[in-house]
Amino acid sequence: MSNNTGFENKTILVTGCAGFVGGSLALRLLDTAGVKIVGIDNVNDYYETSLKEYRLERIRTKDTDGRFTFIRGDIADKKTVLDMFDKHRPDVVIHLAAQAGVRYSIDNPDAYIQSNIIGTFNILEACRFSMDKGEDAVEHLLFASSSSVYGDNEKIPYSESDNTDRPVSLYAATKKADEALAYSYAKLYKIPMTGMRFFTVYGPAGRPDMAYYKFTKKLAAGEKIELYNKGENKRDFTYVDDVLESIEKLITLVPPVGIQGERYRIYNIGNNSPVDTKTFVAILMEELKSAGVIDEGLKFEDLTKLVDAAPGDVLMTYADIEKLYKDTGTRPHTELREGLARFAKWYKEYTAG
Ligand SMILES: NC(=O)c1ccc[n+]([C@@H]2O[C@H](COP(=O)([O-])OP(=O)(O)OC[C@H]3O[C@@H](n4cnc5c(N)ncnc54)[C@H](O)[C@@H]3O)[C@@H](O)[C@H]2O)c1
Repeated sequence: MSNNTGFENKTILVTGCAGFVGGSLALRLLDTAGVKIVGIDNVNDYYETSLKEYRLERIRTKDTDGRFTFIRGDIADKKTVLDMFDKHRPDVVIHLAAQAGVRYSIDNPDAYIQSNIIGTFNILEACRFSMDKGEDAVEHLLFASSSSVYGDNEKIPYSESDNTDRPVSLYAATKKADEALAYSYAKLYKIPMTGMRFFTVYGPAGRPDMAYYKFTKKLAAGEKIELYNKGENKRDFTYVDDVLESIEKLITLVPPVGIQGERYRIYNIGNNSPVDTKTFVAILMEELKSAGVIDEGLKFEDLTKLVDAAPGDVLMTYADIEKLYKDTGTRPHTELREGLARFAKWYKEYTAG
């Protein structure tokens, strides 16, 4: 158990703790001595709930000394959120619950407003009320934003000071709105806040709605996969453990009062090394073969179909991570092949039951 993270013995609230990043984070936070984790998730069926239950079970299994409390609830319900804060009085809040996904927002816009706007507002309100309680005040709120706020930014790599006024999906618009809401609370009520713009996170127990996971399922079933924009889209694929390492470093990096009176910082958390989908799939296929998920004999050409770009897709994401590195001394470092090998191994075990 690690004793030098700087947040030993804190109570940390993780929203979206049955999700990919939240579930992986809760598991990892248990490694820090004395940390109590309160997790909330409504375990919605945007993708299979069995995977969310699996993630929760992994946390419960590791939690041998009762430091994890799970609340099955909706952050869009203000009373649920306020009661949770009253009861558990978190020192640190890591707000990851959200309706994610770009394409789903075309048919299901309401889910984004409920979870990402109203849900985030409720978390901000609860933090604000905690400030009135003096010593029970939340010390630091960290929240997930997304590389999608950069829209079709032509300047690469994307840096935190770039314009983010042109979101190309409702998902991106809600993440941009979250940043603005958070900033206003960080300024008005002096709640220290750190926004984290994640760039395509992947890894074991990852999200089945994301391309690499969907590809894997199809390849394992012997089906052809479609590569949007003819496989030319570039993504800054970021391995989940690297994201968790950055989050852990940021927990204790509490923003001081800035020149505008705000207590607010924003960071890109990405790999700084974009890869096109074609190359990505070629490496994924090799690692799936090594892990025994697909047959050795399968060929890239036989299993892929190059199609046009999809609405709301951005062509390239590419993170400038100088700020993250300068402030935390850490940056994502896991090689894509290594990360995909770990994903493939996990997938093999998970699907073997
Ligand atoms: N994974 C990525 O590549 C990526 C990239 C950029 C940003 N993000 C952001 O990071 C965060 C975590 O993403 P993830 O990949 O773990 O997604 P995820 O969908 O796996 O996890 C989100 C969790 O939040 C829960 N949730 C959603 N609405 C809720 C509500 N109203 N009340 C309670 N729980 C609710 C879901 O059930 C889910 O378990 C999200 O804010 C997402 O927008 C992720």
